[in-house]
Amino acid sequence: MKITLSVIKADIGSIGGHICPSQRLLETVERHVLQYRYDMPFIRDSYVGFTGDDIAILMTHTRGPGAEPIHKLAWDAFVAGTAEAKAQGLYGAGQDLLKDAFSGNVRGMGPATAEMEFEERANEPFLFFAADKTDPGAYNLPLYLAFADPMTTPGLMLAPSMAKGFKFVVMDVAHTDGDRIIELNTPEDIYDLAALLRDGERYVVESIWSRATGEQAVAACTTRLHNIAGTYTGKDDPVMLVRVQKNFPATGEVLAPYAIGPYVAGGMRGSHNMPLMPVALNSNISYFDGPPVVSCAAFAMHDGKLTEPADAFAHPFWNTVRDRVADKAMEMRRQGFFGAAMLPMAELEYTGITEKLHALDARFTIRGEAQKLQRRKVSAAGTG
Ligand code: F6R
Ligand code: MG
Ligand code: MG
Repeated sequence: MKITLSVIKADIGSIGGHICPSQRLLETVERHVLQYRYDMPFIRDSYVGFTGDDIAILMTHTRGPGAEPIHKLAWDAFVAGTAEAKAQGLYGAGQDLLKDAFSGNVRGMGPATAEMEFEERANEPFLFFAADKTDPGAYNLPLYLAFADPMTTPGLMLAPSMAKGFKFVVMDVAHTDGDRIIELNTPEDIYDLAALLRDGERYVVESIWSRATGEQAVAACTTRLHNIAGTYTGKDDPVMLVRVQKNFPATGEVLAPYAIGPYVAGGMRGSHNMPLMPVALNSNISYFDGPPVVSCAAFAMHDGKLTEPADAFAHPFWNTVRDRVADKAMEMRRQGFFGAAMLPMAELEYTGITEKLHALDARFTIRGEAQKLQRRKVSAAGTG
């Protein structure tokens, strides 16, 4: 059976700043999806959860990626949630709904999406990742390691079905006039791939495909909110779907790179580098409006019907990782505004520094220049 997985997520308001949605907000979104889903028999199942201040709606259906009724259902659920968020006085109510009216597809309207359609396997395990206080580039390193590095994924050597490697589709997210993409094949293109993926603010993995079978393994969101809004409106907080096992890396191989806790763009005022902490489902945000977090719900699916989610980062193993990430976060914070702690100018969410530099520019002088000018004036007067 051909099934589409669609995940659509938005920040439509949260408690205590950017910490988490309220219970009532979450219930409003969930109720809306459940109520209207039953008028649409092509929707096979749904799941609603949150990570930090973002609510994600996962739907399984038979209408393909970008299907209008699926996107409209999610948009309407977020609009209903926004009304509740406003009624409760939540911070940033409706902040990711950047357009007034729905027009066919949420793409370019604020909410982030990750979608893929495939012929369902006899058993279909997949992972649904959601991250908060960071941007889509946060998945670059974990995906590279899981799909292209045999040190992380022994399956690349052990499983004949993975021996041919994978095709990475990478998007240049700075290009706003259409989707600018490149396809790179691993293993032969890994140096080129690494050269792009090192810069997660510019180049983002959009999808990954098995070279042996042509099947899609990964769909990741590439939304950059500031490209839509024209200005920073918060970090993009990316979602991602990863099919696992058999012709794809095993669940454990896909999860393993998150033990690194790599520094990513995100945290306080969307303007700092902080380490990415793997957390349990429905976790909130705390230290320094961060650290950036990533959650992972593992599912099995049959005929589009989902099991309950297994919480992949709730296992005790990840407590040690979280402790290490907390140490890394505090270590970075010790250097405050300096150097690598703060994001480059183009990625700052606030305009304060640009304005300050502009004002200070007029106060700069070149030493000796005033005297030189004076001497020139005097000699000009003497010869005149
Ligand atoms: C992402 C998020 C942040 C904030 C940013 C600035 O979920 O909440 O990216 O948007 O920290 O928010 P303000 O200016 O409201 O503090
Ligand atoms: Mg937010
Ligand atoms: Mg968020």
